[in-house]
Amino acid sequence: MRKASVLIDRNFALGRTDPRLFGAFIEHLGRGVYGGIYEPGHPTADANGFRKDVLALVKELGPTLVRYPGGNFVSGYNWEDGVGPVGSRPARLDLAWSSTEPNRFGTNEFVDWCRAADVSPMMAVNLGTRGGDAARNLVEYCNHPGGTAWSELRRKHGWETPHKIKLWCLGNEMDGQWQIGQKSAAAYGAAAREAAKMMRRVDPSIELAACGSSSRNMPTFGQWEATVLEYTFDHVDYISIHTYLENFRKDTASFLASSDLMDKFIDEVIALADAVAAKRHSDKRLMLSFDEWNVWYRTCRSEAGAAEDGWPIAPPILEEIYTMEDALAFGGACISLLNHADRVKVACIAQLVNVIAPIMTETGGGAWRQTIFFPFAHMSRFARGRVLRTLTESDAYDAPHYNSSGPQEHNFTTQNVAYLKIAAIAEDGGGLSLFLINRDLKKEMEVTFDLRSFGRLALKETLELRHDDLNATNTKHAPGRVTPTSLEVASLDGRLLKATLKPASWNVIHLTTP
Ligand code: AHR
Repeated sequence: MRKASVLIDRNFALGRTDPRLFGAFIEHLGRGVYGGIYEPGHPTADANGFRKDVLALVKELGPTLVRYPGGNFVSGYNWEDGVGPVGSRPARLDLAWSSTEPNRFGTNEFVDWCRAADVSPMMAVNLGTRGGDAARNLVEYCNHPGGTAWSELRRKHGWETPHKIKLWCLGNEMDGQWQIGQKSAAAYGAAAREAAKMMRRVDPSIELAACGSSSRNMPTFGQWEATVLEYTFDHVDYISIHTYLENFRKDTASFLASSDLMDKFIDEVIALADAVAAKRHSDKRLMLSFDEWNVWYRTCRSEAGAAEDGWPIAPPILEEIYTMEDALAFGGACISLLNHADRVKVACIAQLVNVIAPIMTETGGGAWRQTIFFPFAHMSRFARGRVLRTLTESDAYDAPHYNSSGPQEHNFTTQNVAYLKIAAIAEDGGGLSLFLINRDLKKEMEVTFDLRSFGRLALKETLELRHDDLNATNTKHAPGRVTPTSLEVASLDGRLLKATLKPASWNVIHLTTP
């Protein structure tokens, strides 16, 4: 049995979780839209063609915000194709995912879906094949009340009141060689700045995110941010950051340590943004939009993977089946995000349904929760409040990393990876939520929490997610194989909380004032 101790002071907060930290992402990719959230003719479809079984799972998952329509897709997208009478919309080749985009679902349908799902929209504009002009027209179409060509067109299409979309991404992963319309940092910086100026003149209330590097492994990481922000610093509110955790080498201990690299990545991007501020003697602090994060490494589709299968509509691609092990790595990423709540204000799990997603569906059939569903749902439900600093003593291990997802291959070791990964959130009502991962694959861990600064607390709810088989998955035929139970070994004695965490487990302890 390992032992760990944690001291938490209710006054030592590092920041408050922004509700938009619990966002998700829907791209026109595979069965994310068609057969995912939208399937007219499905037995549960509503009058708009939205699957109600999926909507129910989305509400249980608890995202607050959904980014749309891409991703790589947006860099070749003409938004005008997705509005107006459905029967007149063109089908187009989608060069990002080698598919046919039928355009039966577009901006207005997305906004309606967001209302049905009780989430707010985050819209991305195409800075790959297009630029500021198309972007400012889209803002006018969506957000201007009326009396101009674009806003009247929206009204003619049946959406009388403006959509009031607040948050906008200036393109997507524009440094990637896979991106349609890839740009150098200077070319992207200039294009993003001009688009930002035009979009904000149409609607000064919007918030804008510039593209950061598409991963920490990019050879241009760092220089990209520095250059892009030289151009855009005064015109944007966020710099984006993307991470997909991976386990190509089948090294579980390393995989579970890899979310700690997210912590480093966040700190590095903050440093890069603040260096630009320092050079300008500016008090402005850019926030981070972590608008793609997840575990993803098993499935892929090359840009040219293409045409050989006949440009299908909504092919079942990137349908990653998540294991218990993935849920643990994913939970580590949740904790990393929470522990940077002072600077990461927006985050989107990529993606929401079918495509590297917590929710799976069968087209024409049922819907179920993948393993990664649970840490996200727990975080969205219990992590609203002030994130507290934790003073932790835990044994640690060294983890080799083999980062092979980017153009650069890195082999290195992360030292001192604590077996206990933790985030602590103080609720405004006086309660406390603890998120805990025991990263030891073999040994239980007894954790003692010193809560001396809190008043009286009572154990309200505990949750544990684990499975004897780290490869266990949830499938159509066994949808409940990996599911949370309560964490039985947790007790509170005065100001001392003790919990015994099973090996390789994700745990939540929720305490309230009695
Ligand atoms: O989420 C899947 C893809 O990953 C997105 O389209 C792209 O932005 C990223 O490379």
